[in-house]
Amino acid sequence: MAFLFFHRATLSFFFFFLCLLPLLSSAQRPSNLRLERAYVALQAWKQAITADPKNITGDWSGPLVCKYTGVYCAPALDNPSQITVAGIDLNHGAIQGTLPIELGLLSDLALLHLNSNAFRGTLPGSLTNLRLLYELDVSNNQLGGDFPSVVLELPSLRFLDIRFNRFCGGVPSCLFDLPLDALFLNDNQFTFSIPENIGNSPVSVLVFARNQITGCLPKTIANMRKTLHELIIMSTGLRSCIPPEIGQLTKLTVLDLSHNDLVGNLPSTIGNMTSLEQLDVAHNELSGEIPSGICDLPKLHNFTYSYNYFFKEPPRCLTIRSHDDRQNCFPLRPLQRPPSQCAAFLSKPNSCDSIGCIASP
Ligand SMILES: *[C@@H]1O[C@H](CO)[C@@H](O)[C@H](O)[C@H]1NC(C)=O
Ligand SMILES: *[C@@H]1O[C@H](CO)[C@@H](O)[C@H](O)[C@H]1NC(C)=O
Ligand SMILES: *[C@@H]1O[C@H](CO)[C@@H](O)[C@H](O)[C@H]1NC(C)=O
Repeated sequence: MAFLFFHRATLSFFFFFLCLLPLLSSAQRPSNLRLERAYVALQAWKQAITADPKNITGDWSGPLVCKYTGVYCAPALDNPSQITVAGIDLNHGAIQGTLPIELGLLSDLALLHLNSNAFRGTLPGSLTNLRLLYELDVSNNQLGGDFPSVVLELPSLRFLDIRFNRFCGGVPSCLFDLPLDALFLNDNQFTFSIPENIGNSPVSVLVFARNQITGCLPKTIANMRKTLHELIIMSTGLRSCIPPEIGQLTKLTVLDLSHNDLVGNLPSTIGNMTSLEQLDVAHNELSGEIPSGICDLPKLHNFTYSYNYFFKEPPRCLTIRSHDDRQNCFPLRPLQRPPSQCAAFLSKPNSCDSIGCIASP
């Protein structure tokens, strides 16, 4: 009996290492509740996928979710002895399907990268369970409907990229109260006016391009001076003047306000934006003189102001490495608008006040 007992114990010991060593060595642990929940979530997601041309989810079966393609595991933040699903990266998967409610079971997820797929529908409200979600990139999909307000309830979110989708309707102003580092809303069908609290947003990159923006560009944008590096508001139909306060954005390197209906002058305060490298105000209804301070900016190497009604430019603007002054009203420059067009435009009121935006003194 004693021999038999000893023998079984030895065998158990042997099997313990034989079975678990390979798992342990690849950062796997026996299944825990977190991984079981992840398994339920990922199987539900696989069901919700209608086409997977690159067979990325082909290996999404069995309990070892950490071995699934695109699924990344790490020790849980609140219990490092447990492995959990911390990231999912299906970028460029061309996957068709929807995002099921079960994704809310992935409560330890920090990164969710789904860019360049063909997910339809919207972001499920259950994502509010993802208290650790730090980066959410669902760009270049076919998501639609109203602004996915669940993103407003994610306390750890710092990077939000929902560009190139079919979201429509308004953009909630409280979005700009979130502690985000980067915000990409471009290439959707949002219709909104930029709220006064935009200045509360600590983002370094803000891209609104190719949505529809009504109302005025608020002067409170100057409150982003400590953090904002890139501001892209091209092709939004924005009809406003450019508030002189914009010159306080001294960390800004890229400012693109092109393809809008901006009126009035280019504020001379832009000459204070000492970090500016690229400035594009082309295709607007701006007029007046190009302030010489702008063309003196030490880092400015690309200044595009074509297709406006400017009538005077300092010669040094023409020494900027890449500049474009076509289709304005400069008397001695090539490729300008016909004088009759300039005269007709400049005879009409085109100040800030004429469009209902309040000009700052
Ligand atoms: C997809 O991947 C799985 C697992 O990697 C494999 O078994 C299956 O044959 C693949 N299917 C196709 C159509 O390539
Ligand atoms: C900003 O620009 C304005 C107008 O060009 C100028 O009067 C002002 O002194 C500048 N402010 C700073 C801080 O450089
Ligand atoms: C300058 O900016 C314009 C528009 O923003 C862009 O089309 C052009 O390619 C840029 N030129 C260089 C040399 O980067």
